Amino acid sequence: MASQKNNNFALEMKDVEPELAKELMKYFTGEHTGFVRVGPKGYFLPHKYRQEAANIYNMPIRPDDIFVASYPRSGTTWTQELVWMVANDLDYAKSDAIPLTERYPFLEFSVYVHPVMKERFTEENSDSDRKLKLLEQVTEAGTEQLARIPSPRFVKTHLPMSLLPPKLLDTSKVVYVARDPRDVVVSFYHLNRLIRTQGYIGDFKTYWNFFIKDLHHWTPYFEHIKEAWDCRHHPNMLFLFYEELCRDLPTSVRRVAKFLNKQFSEEQIAKLCEHLSIENFKNNKSVNYDVMRELGILIPGEQGFIRKGKAGGWRDYFDEEMMQQADRWMEENLQGTDFRFPHLADKLV
Ligand code: A3P
Repeated sequence: MASQKNNNFALEMKDVEPELAKELMKYFTGEHTGFVRVGPKGYFLPHKYRQEAANIYNMPIRPDDIFVASYPRSGTTWTQELVWMVANDLDYAKSDAIPLTERYPFLEFSVYVHPVMKERFTEENSDSDRKLKLLEQVTEAGTEQLARIPSPRFVKTHLPMSLLPPKLLDTSKVVYVARDPRDVVVSFYHLNRLIRTQGYIGDFKTYWNFFIKDLHHWTPYFEHIKEAWDCRHHPNMLFLFYEELCRDLPTSVRRVAKFLNKQFSEEQIAKLCEHLSIENFKNNKSVNYDVMRELGILIPGEQGFIRKGKAGGWRDYFDEEMMQQADRWMEENLQGTDFRFPHLADKLV
């Protein structure tokens, strides 16, 4: 499997051309230096990734680690809570008491916090030692946080398989979740407006064009998905779809339980599904990124981190031209692969 090869290509990096980077930074106001393209697929990441790439690729991993990986806005938070609850024998009290951000260090988040933004956040929170401590916590390099915490560790990442430690799947478990890219892009657009580390100030159509031209963080989207898809038969990989979680959550819960060798009664599963419902998630301070809001990293007035929680909302955002572009782009990228979104199985064959 490509992602399992121990090669150095994964860490080869090129700066995005200065003129293009300058143009992009007019839209993404949280970045102040530029961007890099990483590895043979040219994954697009902030310039600060240069500092962290090798630490991440070479990080020591442990057999009982569980990684939840995805392209952003694919249902990561939902999957994280589901996986954590199953792995921790449905410990509601602990899930309630410890925010998800603490239970799951976000491996590469620190590269998204440009020093200029960090300085701003520090200044703005300087009246409270507690907040400054929280800020240090959420912006510390993921590898450093992870080196300290006891096993079993839970890790959130949006990095593709090829940028993660090459022995990851042969050592630890990975749950990957994928979502229809049209819903991903709408959801990510709102997040990029919401979160000051990205600080997107353009309109949706411009954003969509950056996304399909791979001029956006963690793209190319389909390469990301296909790398994980190619590993789906590995016994340590569980590949989920957001749309399947939406359609039949109990079945996805059972799949996660089987993957983690856990058994629950139907009542326990029903209670967990209730806990995981979008309505409960919106009001659950442990999962809804309240910490980021408290630190002023989220812009008031924009749509929340846990937003609509539905499949198919993209139709309200796409005009005819974008719909056609999307059809072409998806078809081109899926040609010659056996990857299919289950909810589109009859369309893209
Ligand atoms: P929308 O913006 O379309 O609502 P991620 O966690 O990867 O950032 O993904 C965020 C997306 O998952 C958001 O999509 C969010 O609302 C949705 N989501 C989060 N919790 C959910 C839940 N309990 N049920 C359904 N969707 C959920």
